[in-house]
Amino acid sequence: MGLSCEGTLLRAVPGQFIMVRLKAGNDLLLRRPFSIHGIVTSRGNPRGIELLYKVVGKGTFRLSEYREGDSLDVIGPLGNGFTISESYERIHIVSGGIGVAPLRFLAMHIERVTGGKVKPQVFLGGRSDADLLCTKEFIDLGLPVQITTDDGSSGDQCLITDPWEVSVSVNPPQMIYACGPMSMLQCIGGIVSKHGLLCEASIESAMACGIGACLGCVVRAKDINEQYKHVCIDGPVFNIQDLKI
Ligand SMILES: Cc1cc2nc3c(=O)[nH]c(=O)nc-3n(C[C@H](O)[C@H](O)[C@H](O)COP(=O)(O)OP(=O)(O)OC[C@H]3O[C@@H](n4cnc5c(N)ncnc54)[C@H](O)[C@@H]3O)c2cc1C
Ligand code: FES
Repeated sequence: MGLSCEGTLLRAVPGQFIMVRLKAGNDLLLRRPFSIHGIVTSRGNPRGIELLYKVVGKGTFRLSEYREGDSLDVIGPLGNGFTISESYERIHIVSGGIGVAPLRFLAMHIERVTGGKVKPQVFLGGRSDADLLCTKEFIDLGLPVQITTDDGSSGDQCLITDPWEVSVSVNPPQMIYACGPMSMLQCIGGIVSKHGLLCEASIESAMACGIGACLGCVVRAKDINEQYKHVCIDGPVFNIQDLKI
């Protein structure tokens, strides 16, 4: 979904998100969080943002009913972004399912800031072929893309962390960016810790406010002095080694 907008939203960085209010009587009081999937430009100028969403319940179904010309009430950009450094030359992007939403924006950003010199290796996993999103966009950026599906309908039939771990052992990357289901992130966290790698992961959690006021989004931190972190204001991007996931 493309949203025409102005102001700070146009300066959003990969990893940040918005909270969207979806009008449906009194049914949907809480805003829903969505990652920024890209910045839309026209003649080189930023004009709007893109979202990529999966219908899983009432809010996302309501979002799917919006049509061109409708307006949407959003707050953002919220949260932090991925750390991007020109010193990272060997980068892995690991995505599971709809987790690709912030990672395609990230890949485009890396392409822009490095002038295409850095080509992250992309690992895309999904339950089936229909869950493999943005493959073409990554290929169009000239990035090597490895895909896997749980049911074998596309790519190898295995978890994306299987070929990714092999690749990590052969040629360890300087930075790994990941987003996807918690089970995938837990597996990545274990491998990152075993090989002493650096990984930033965008975490999903239930959010009511998006601004640090409700405690709905907290996750356990490894730091004993700071037991919990708010996904909405400390994240959603974290060094995976800082969290107990
Ligand atoms: C920072 C952040 C960024 C996100 N970015 C995207 C995105 O770019 N695209 C996208 O499709 N989704 C994204 N999500 C998840 C999205 O917010 C939820 O899918 C959405 O809020 C569900 O609303 P609903 O009313 O349709 O479903 P509900 O009726 O609220 O719930 C339906 C089902 O989805 C599960 N669910 C609800 N919220 C979440 C959540 N936050 N994480 C995991 N499961 C959830 C519920 O447990 C339930 O099983 C993001 C979440 C966070 C925290
Ligand atoms: S969503 Fe309310 S504190 Fe994070």
